[in-house]
Amino acid sequence: MTTVFSGIQPSGTLTLGNYLGALQHFVGMQEENDCFFCIVDQHAITVPQNKTELRKNIKSLAALYLATGIDPKKSTLFIQSEVPAHAQLAWIMQCVSYIGELERMTQFKDKSAGKTGVSSALLTYPPLMAADILLYSTDIVPVGEDQKQHLELTRNLAERFNQQYNDIFTIPEVQIPKVGARIMSLQDPLKKMSKSDENQKGFISMLDDERTIMKKIKSAVTDSENEVRFDRENKPGVSNLMSILSLSTGDSLASIEQTYNGKNYGEFKQDVAEAVATLLNPIRERHEELMQSDELDEILDQGAEQAQRVSYKMLKKAERAVGLGRKR
Ligand code: TYM
Repeated sequence: MTTVFSGIQPSGTLTLGNYLGALQHFVGMQEENDCFFCIVDQHAITVPQNKTELRKNIKSLAALYLATGIDPKKSTLFIQSEVPAHAQLAWIMQCVSYIGELERMTQFKDKSAGKTGVSSALLTYPPLMAADILLYSTDIVPVGEDQKQHLELTRNLAERFNQQYNDIFTIPEVQIPKVGARIMSLQDPLKKMSKSDENQKGFISMLDDERTIMKKIKSAVTDSENEVRFDRENKPGVSNLMSILSLSTGDSLASIEQTYNGKNYGEFKQDVAEAVATLLNPIRERHEELMQSDELDEILDQGAEQAQRVSYKMLKKAERAVGLGRKR
């Protein structure tokens, strides 16, 4: 059976970008694969977090995974810090990583640029991500476009380890969606939609209500042409809204172009907003129910147990390959 692994940081409410680029694709993969979905709280603390907020976000992310359709009977859903093998293997992966290659990661460059007191963990973030993936002999990692570079590094680190020590790690393949791999900000369509955007109008949170969604999409930046056509370079705002509509309804980009031929942006935006609200309303309601129930803790306890079982075996293999501890 093919093994799938992916992770999401609990560093704020997820955006429509997280959903369309990643989460949405996880649900369909559960039927035919052995899936592990992780709440990567140790990655989240590479930048300062408020303790109370982090706790709340961890629980909320677990509820969001379930509300979108992750089924604990089919997939293992767990919190990274509750499975010690992640941090333990991360140390070994750091030992095979070079500082130079870590400094070349665009995420590190973006997050550290112009800052003083940058944590060393921001630099060693990718070896922890490699550990997440390699512990489960993962074949496929579904992610958005922004994680591609981290995945390439994971492959390199795994190959290096296999050559230096013992051939124990599966080399994972990255899976990036054709449409929606990079949902852009509604206010600056040249920038990725991100929950850390200071301009609240730039992103749609997965928990935004219908009115907020309407308002944000209506104020999305477009262009002066009034022509609904997919052209990422010359019409980035409209193209972004088209991707959002396509992923929300299942209609192709070509059929969207046809539908809005001769129509104005007002009508188009109204439909995009309605489609997004239709998509997110049931998720928001289910999330609310789950947050009030005891179900979450049970599911996360079982997920941690299952993940511990699988990951411990691989951790021991890696430690043995390197020569750590005593031979048992
Ligand atoms: P994170 O938490 O930033 O994002 C979670 C997922 O959402 C995708 N994504 C987007 N997709 C499309 N458009 C956007 N605007 C957008 N913004 C985010 C991301 O690509 C990602 O798939 N390092 C990872 C978490 C991680 C991980 C892992 C992922 C830790 N260990 C192991 C896979 C495997 C991250 O920060 O994702």
